[in-house]
Amino acid sequence: MTIRVCLAGATGWAGSALAHSIARSDTIELVAAVSRTHAQRILGDVLGEPRLTCPIYATAEQALAQPCDVFFEYTKPEIAKANCMLALHQGAHVVIGTSGLTDADYADIATVAETCQRGVLAVGNFALTVVLLQKFAEMAAKLIPQWEIIDYAHDDKKDAPSGTARELAARLSRIRPSELTIPLEHTQGIVATRGARVGGSQIHSIRLPGYTISAEIIFGMPDQKLTIRHDSGNSAQPYVDGALLAIRTVSSFVGLRRGLDSVLDMA
Ligand SMILES: NC(=O)c1ccc[n+]([C@@H]2O[C@H](COP(=O)([O-])OP(=O)(O)OC[C@H]3O[C@@H](n4cnc5c(N)ncnc54)[C@H](OP(=O)(O)O)[C@@H]3O)[C@@H](O)[C@H]2O)c1
Repeated sequence: MTIRVCLAGATGWAGSALAHSIARSDTIELVAAVSRTHAQRILGDVLGEPRLTCPIYATAEQALAQPCDVFFEYTKPEIAKANCMLALHQGAHVVIGTSGLTDADYADIATVAETCQRGVLAVGNFALTVVLLQKFAEMAAKLIPQWEIIDYAHDDKKDAPSGTARELAARLSRIRPSELTIPLEHTQGIVATRGARVGGSQIHSIRLPGYTISAEIIFGMPDQKLTIRHDSGNSAQPYVDGALLAIRTVSSFVGLRRGLDSVLDMA
């Protein structure tokens, strides 16, 4: 059976790579796209892919007038939550690729997903190597009580910390908070230099030209430390396979799940 998808952000860096891949799929079909700049055009004309025949709408509300099975959110954090709520109320399952939503946003989305009996899969990073970083970090956090996260990105990335860093902190918070030898309030000097406390982890976000996207977690013990780091390249291709898997699996459960490993067999 073909899965009908509405893709918000289909003309963007990440969304267009996903759209090109869907064009080659026999089992997933794009029925609507969202972009303000290209509204009222055909997606294939904008992306140079004749197999993408769906119309582009300026808003998710307009796009969701076309029946779809899955709404894929790949726009900006300012509108992502409202788009997802709309999609759930319209009866669609939802995949969230957009970063920058807070744990409070996810709590609200989870409530609506349960009420509407729909699945929501939120994945801060669809790349397989990030999924592995998360799993390895969870293993380490069970044994090593102290760590800090560093999130590196290009200078014009507005949201901080990154979705990957937030998701990592949220996962580790379910294991335990990272211990601080000197509590933050006893810091001598400028407390902000110790980073932000997010879900029991210290996160330091670096935004500089010359970086693409990297995430690093350092576990420290007396006289030894472990660094686990992920570096993205420049293309959006690493995110495509994970995004397709999310589209294929999001209708198989009800409620909110976070992270691609929640639908992967990683035993
Ligand atoms: N989960 C992952 O693995 C992953 C991977 C890559 C990126 N991301 C995240 O995905 C999001 C998109 O990233 P990107 O690099 O693709 O951004 P981008 O290149 O700026 O693309 C954003 C897309 O959203 C549309 N858009 C933005 N604001 C909108 C609005 N108010 N109404 C309707 N459409 C709107 C844009 O079209 P118009 O400007 O024409 O409206 C464009 O199609 C970011 O949050 C990024 O961090 C996540």
